Amino acid sequence: MASNRGPIEYRTDQNGNLRAQRGSGGVVTALSAASQHIELTWFASALGEGDRRAVQNAQGERLSLPLIGPQTYLRFIVSPRNVYHKYYNIFCNPLLWFLQHYMWNSPYTPNIDAKVYDAWENGYVKVNEAFASSIIEETKNDPRPPIVFIHDYHLYLVGKYLRQQMSDVTMLHFTHIPWPAHSYWLLLPPHMRQAILEGLCSCDIVGLQTNNRDVTNFLHTCEALLPNAKIDLDNSSITIGKHITKVNAYPISVDTTGLERLARSNWIQDYKKRLSPFLLTQNIVRVDRTEPSKNIVRGFKAFDLLLDRHPELKGKVRFLAFLVPSRTRIKQYQRYNEEVLEMVNAINYKHGGANWQPIKLFYENNYPQAIAAMCLYDVLLVNAVIDGMNLVAKEGPIVNERNGVLVLSEAVGAHEQLKEGVLTITPVDTENTAQKLYEALSLSAEDRKRRSDILRKTIRRDDLDNWLCQQLADVSQLLLQQAAPKAAQLALLHL
Ligand code: G6P
Repeated sequence: MASNRGPIEYRTDQNGNLRAQRGSGGVVTALSAASQHIELTWFASALGEGDRRAVQNAQGERLSLPLIGPQTYLRFIVSPRNVYHKYYNIFCNPLLWFLQHYMWNSPYTPNIDAKVYDAWENGYVKVNEAFASSIIEETKNDPRPPIVFIHDYHLYLVGKYLRQQMSDVTMLHFTHIPWPAHSYWLLLPPHMRQAILEGLCSCDIVGLQTNNRDVTNFLHTCEALLPNAKIDLDNSSITIGKHITKVNAYPISVDTTGLERLARSNWIQDYKKRLSPFLLTQNIVRVDRTEPSKNIVRGFKAFDLLLDRHPELKGKVRFLAFLVPSRTRIKQYQRYNEEVLEMVNAINYKHGGANWQPIKLFYENNYPQAIAAMCLYDVLLVNAVIDGMNLVAKEGPIVNERNGVLVLSEAVGAHEQLKEGVLTITPVDTENTAQKLYEALSLSAEDRKRRSDILRKTIRRDDLDNWLCQQLADVSQLLLQQAAPKAAQLALLHL
């Protein structure tokens, strides 16, 4: 398994000891649970000084991660700091991330300039090569043909490098974020977008979140921008030369059993107690990385409108926002952080008083605290402008104890599966969001229960096991198909 962010991140504590902390974001949430089931080596970037120290301490050995999975090992990819900076802070984020979230025409728009060309050449390409070399090194003495699962927009080129050097590799690349319409890829210089598409088409399976949006967009992008590719829309496949790539949707989900167990644990009960002084009669909760595409400022704006229109809610409702610091070295994210804080202060000043502050902000990476908050919400607001899937929308209904209402953006991948049980919003429409928040706070107990039952049932049915098993089943089928001609040849030889 390869992903930029690993399941844990090491930090040095006050006493100089290394402490492991869970990584943030959807990929980690999903893949950590997957590690319970399979033996794997996880390749991830060393992010900070702690990770680099952990690599030194391990003296070339893989790190064993018994808390993540019984047979899970971690191999950190250590890139020179300036190479990693170019890769992560200039090319992956904001550039690829903003492109794939349709955020080009916004105040956050990056320009393609010499810095980006350099970040591609001396950042993105280099880190992708380093991942590929490490995977090749790790698997070369293993007699079993390697099966490699590559994750997300950070690692689009790994497939091509592996294919060039390992004839027997089977690869599935899964993109966790939206795949935009093909015209959007025209924003990237031709050699970059071509390399990205060729990297993906070197894999045996390309996995995306949704059929209607992502798979269709990906097939059309290849059709428009890869001159040598033959696209079979009916069969959802792409052929380049003799190589066929299947393109499938695997809507990612959460580990429902693990989450339910976690929600019952003493750990979460303690956090629930700690949160209780902040709770009022009704509570709106949001949990997000502090990220422009999550649309946090507009969410607060809608809450502001709600309080303007319904002053009777003052003193009775609180908005608890659990925001995880994210990509804090990137100027667009720094600006967004400031906007979020300004908005919170303005609303608290405008509507609040000595006895009541409408918004309580928690700005930290504290997963158990966020889970505790999700146990307790009356309304969960997920209003992303666009999102690959959004796992908060699936975690919340599973752990929530109050039949809380999910107010969900129609532009997140999860909406396709959950629409029957949610109140749908158009994410940039703050009027509509304010109305839906009011509706959510006013729903009858029966209606809340009916909706919660639908959500729980849907999420439990299509849970993370299902996501992973479908991918494993598709890879197995592929291996069987590949083995069949070989078996036939052997049979002929024996005759
Ligand atoms: C999203 C992306 C992941 C990413 C995560 C956290 O879920 O799909 O690939 O790891 O956000 O972002 P970060 O930049 O902090 O790793």
